[in-house]
Amino acid sequence: MTEPVFLEVLKVAPEPFSTSTPQPPIEFAGPTSYSDDDRQSLDADAAEIVARYPQPRSALLPLLHLVQGHDGYITRAGVAFCADTLDLTAAQVASVATFYSMYRREPTGDYLVGVCTNTLCAVLGGDEILAQLTDHLGIGVGGTTADGRVTVEHVECNAACDFAPVVMVNWEFYDNQTPSSAIELVEDIRAGSKPSPSRGTQTLCTFAQTARLLAGLPPTDEGGGA
Ligand code: FES
Repeated sequence: MTEPVFLEVLKVAPEPFSTSTPQPPIEFAGPTSYSDDDRQSLDADAAEIVARYPQPRSALLPLLHLVQGHDGYITRAGVAFCADTLDLTAAQVASVATFYSMYRREPTGDYLVGVCTNTLCAVLGGDEILAQLTDHLGIGVGGTTADGRVTVEHVECNAACDFAPVVMVNWEFYDNQTPSSAIELVEDIRAGSKPSPSRGTQTLCTFAQTARLLAGLPPTDEGGGA
């Protein structure tokens, strides 16, 4: 019969787990309230959205898109509007608005250009696209051109790795990009044309229009963003 073998697996007591690490405060910028006209318009759109849900609070995500489309980003006024409309606290709205990366906390250009720099896109040139594009435009990552037309940011994998490196404009796909094709794409957009996305709707909307679509509302003719 084989003798049992006992192993001493833990000689050092583990560090106590702490959840008390200080975190930077969550802050929103921009106006704190809307004009009467804007409030009236937002109220009407919000009522249409909220009516689709059995519980009003379930409308928070589309309402955040609504105010983001109006302001170009999530402002203090937008947070207060969502909280007021859905009977939530500002902290509850903020916790959702800061969880999802599609909600922005800084003014956005008419066209939000996202360069994927996750593994496959990066290996195939995504990092170089981002570097050359921001260098060409003279802005940093997350910055907006002086004409307010374009904001450039890096984005995480958009599950389009087959077409890497991928650039997104207002969340429409532009596949198989190179630094020069991405610069040409952005310059075409700045010049006023709307290059067709590689897939999907074949229509490129402004950031404000796209946000309204994501809110479940038809786009308006108005621009938006910074
Ligand atoms: S890594 Fe870029 S789309 Fe997947």
